[in-house]
Amino acid sequence: MKFQHLAVLALAGLGASAAFAQAKPEDQIKYRQSAMTVNARSSGALNAMAKGDVAFNKDVAVRHASVIADLSDLPLQAGAFGPGTDKGAPTKADPKVWSEPEKFKAAYDKFTAAAKALPAAAGDVGTLKVALADLGKTCKGCHDDYRMK
Ligand code: HEC
Repeated sequence: MKFQHLAVLALAGLGASAAFAQAKPEDQIKYRQSAMTVNARSSGALNAMAKGDVAFNKDVAVRHASVIADLSDLPLQAGAFGPGTDKGAPTKADPKVWSEPEKFKAAYDKFTAAAKALPAAAGDVGTLKVALADLGKTCKGCHDDYRMK
């Protein structure tokens, strides 16, 4: 009797995990914030080199640029801004992310395009400066509209 009961519970549990295979909202929120933090750290390192505060090092620059490029679209693809991720953990994402998803995606796609162009530009400080300015506009543009103060 007891075993049967456990088996039913186990099956019910399997069904639930299949239906909720997506990451939990709090994990999605943590993921998007972490990705933003890493992007900010790497773009900060690149900015310091572009400004001359830190000596330009081609290998380090290309690595930071590649991190940003690789990470850029992953949170969007992973559903980290998907339905149901507007709450579940402290977040500064504006409700407009979910009320105007197409416009948000357009802002995100601009960022991804600028991010993917970064590694090829990062080998030279002159081209890096131009690419970083393009990238920075996409960060600021999205934050102005979709990140709350
Ligand atoms: C398409 C929109 C969009 C783009 C592009 C974007 N961000 Fe964000 N960013 C957000 C949103 C929304 C949040 C708030 C996320 C949350 O709190 O859930 C955020 C949060 C952050 C945070 C705070 C993370 C934390 O720990 O709470 C940092 C830092 C950040 N972004 C840096 C950047 C940098 C640097 C770039 C460009 C390289 C960038 N963002 C591009 C939308 C964007």
